[in-house]
Amino acid sequence: MANSTDATVPNLTEELLDEYADLGESLKARIPCTEWNFHVPWIHAIRELKRKRNAVIMAHNYQAPEIFHTVADFTGDSLALAQEAANVDADIVVLAGVHFMAESAKILAPDRMILIPDVEAGCSLASSITAAEVRELRRRHPGVPVVTYVNTSAEVKAESDACCTSANALQVVEAMGTDRVIFIPDRYLGANVAKQTSVELILWEGACEVHERFTANQVNNVRIQFQAKVVAHPECPPDVTSAADFVGSTSAMSAWLKREQPSRVALITECSMADNLRVEFPEIDFVKPCNLCPHMQRITLPGIHRSLRDLTSEVHVPADVARRARYALERMLAIGRGEKV
Ligand code: 13P
Ligand code: SF4
Repeated sequence: MANSTDATVPNLTEELLDEYADLGESLKARIPCTEWNFHVPWIHAIRELKRKRNAVIMAHNYQAPEIFHTVADFTGDSLALAQEAANVDADIVVLAGVHFMAESAKILAPDRMILIPDVEAGCSLASSITAAEVRELRRRHPGVPVVTYVNTSAEVKAESDACCTSANALQVVEAMGTDRVIFIPDRYLGANVAKQTSVELILWEGACEVHERFTANQVNNVRIQFQAKVVAHPECPPDVTSAADFVGSTSAMSAWLKREQPSRVALITECSMADNLRVEFPEIDFVKPCNLCPHMQRITLPGIHRSLRDLTSEVHVPADVARRARYALERMLAIGRGEKV
């Protein structure tokens, strides 16, 4: 088992299994024994490489449990990862998530080496809009500020007045202090924010390929069939969020579970979210539906190991783009701290 041709990955031995027995036990609700035996050598090798290279791993809440619960040093939603990137104290950061998250980390921590295990880990929202299209929107709506969801490229952020995440979109929109805001690129997040504010939002046609597939019918069925509470991500269409008991970012979802302690819940979001929370909340029943994000799923333990071993793939952002994108990201962080911007 494991990679006998790679000197940095040990073979599976009884000794190694014993070393990780407690961790395996705590995860057995999500990772069956057969799979665990395959993961252990990679987990061990990654932990060794992290020490050797003074590296940390930041993992988004949608990362698979064998990554999220075993090798990650920081976990959270997009906002928490951006905040952590701004303060990180390590030579290398491996971003276990999608490309825009790694770019945000590079913009906020320019002196660190930022690695992403798979450069193809994209996002349908990030690919829905270009910097030229943002400039054209500004031309059509002169003087209207642009609030940009972090699920975008550095070039698009660089054209923006402020960034936001799903955790603070309403707060950032209202902090612009205008009657109208151009809100890009997620039309569903925008529509969900518009329900809560008197600010008029000019929207773009982007959507998350994972969340746009959920329907209000699914939400109503799961409630009747399983008598479950329903928690939805604000990237879902508005009829889905209207039918849910709670709507929030990935971290807000777990805070809601902690607070409300429902006996049964459906998380209308990416499937790994429930997989990770099952470990934290063993007394709660998690029921479907959920959808997988093909981009998040590109990140694997062998991929993280290769990234740390070979220092691939490093994320670079051109200096001028980084400077302007950093302004938009830092403005979001300042609004979150309650500063006048
Ligand atoms: P969060 O900011 O809620 O973590 O969401 C990021 C994301 O990509 C959801 O699809
Ligand atoms: Fe992008 Fe949707 Fe995947 Fe999140 S879940 S990374 S928004 S495609």
